[in-house]
Amino acid sequence: MKKMNIGLIGFGNVGSGVVKILREKKNFLAEKIGVEINIKKICDKDILSKRNVSIDKGLLTSKASEIIDDPQIDIVVELIGGINPAKEFISGALKSGKNVVTANKALLAQNGKELFALARDRGKNIYFEASVGAGIPIIKSLREGLVANRFNNIFGIVNGTSNFVLSEMSANNRSFPDALKQAKEKGFAEKDPSLDIEGIDSAHKLIILAYLCFGKLVSLQDVFVEGISQVSLADVNYAKELGFEIKLLAIAKKDNNELQVRVHPTLIPRSHLLSSVSGVYNAIYVSTDLAGNLMFYGPGAGQFSAASAVVSDLVDLTQDIKAGLFRSTLNIIEDRSVKKLCRIEDIKGRYYIRFSAIDKPGVLAHVSGILAKFGISIASVTQKERSRSQIVPIVMIVHEAREKELRLALSEIDRLHVVREKSIAIRIEEL
Ligand code: HSE
Repeated sequence: MKKMNIGLIGFGNVGSGVVKILREKKNFLAEKIGVEINIKKICDKDILSKRNVSIDKGLLTSKASEIIDDPQIDIVVELIGGINPAKEFISGALKSGKNVVTANKALLAQNGKELFALARDRGKNIYFEASVGAGIPIIKSLREGLVANRFNNIFGIVNGTSNFVLSEMSANNRSFPDALKQAKEKGFAEKDPSLDIEGIDSAHKLIILAYLCFGKLVSLQDVFVEGISQVSLADVNYAKELGFEIKLLAIAKKDNNELQVRVHPTLIPRSHLLSSVSGVYNAIYVSTDLAGNLMFYGPGAGQFSAASAVVSDLVDLTQDIKAGLFRSTLNIIEDRSVKKLCRIEDIKGRYYIRFSAIDKPGVLAHVSGILAKFGISIASVTQKERSRSQIVPIVMIVHEAREKELRLALSEIDRLHVVREKSIAIRIEEL
């Protein structure tokens, strides 16, 4: 049986999961794919700590060059995350004629253009199934299963940590800090959890999804990103009363010839499938011209879930190499109907708004007068009963408005002397 050698850079949580799968399922995989995948070398800066898998110590090295420069290694798996030195390792591997598997969403979002170009130049490929949704086979489905389709939009819950926090707030009335503390303890947050909470991790994943669906590798600066740190328990509960859940959505949406790419807390109807995605689960809902609307759902983080995706990439590459196949575009081509990216100020949609105002005659008239001045029409309004303080929350849903007008109206409303806190606005998607 043909044997292929791999070198693994990054022997952390996911890396040791990959090693465990390749060892424990060696025969199972070999029987399925007709190739024996052999781990020739494992590199990590820490080669002393114990992992949950035992390996021959001779496999370990702390020098990535022992993998990158080894002519007998066919595939390099990068699982260290971050930009540097992961970028150098991947480009080094491509330059020395190896195919690459990575889970590195941040790196692909930031440097994907040059890395994919380098791979094409060298006649090699970068596979990246574990970068979005861990074990959910979303990348392969978009690239291969849906190859005949044009995509209209993607709505993704792609960050397990934020989704866990929002779900805890909604289901268990837990405060934001409490829920975040619990999420960190569960161990699926990034090393820097602000990447999860502030929407950056979701934006990285959205960039990858939008690339697959629309063939455009947009930069992080082009993505409008707003995290969940400003979402209060009060808003989660008011939204629920109005028939919505608040989710951190990663959205790529084609509207006429413009593409919107944005990540922000979003009210979605409780009747929609996405609203029931809770905890660390991820879901990607795509709308296509042939296959209709599809939702991919599963755990979005976790050792074996991510390792499962890495192994699937390894298997694909072994098959490509065995067949002498090089797929230069991985079926990704530019959607030329997209002429430009839509600025956030120009998107149109419905909004949930909460004002904190003094409870006295004429307040609502003032607020609605300003909304009317900017052409914004109110769909529903609720004033919550005043407690001990004089300040009452006024919760509104407004009909479709352009974001620019909405922002202008809110800044004028916030200057009213009867309005005591900065107003909250959360976008609504009907899906
Ligand atoms: N920090 C990420 C999350 C891990 O919470 O979804 C998976 O990419």
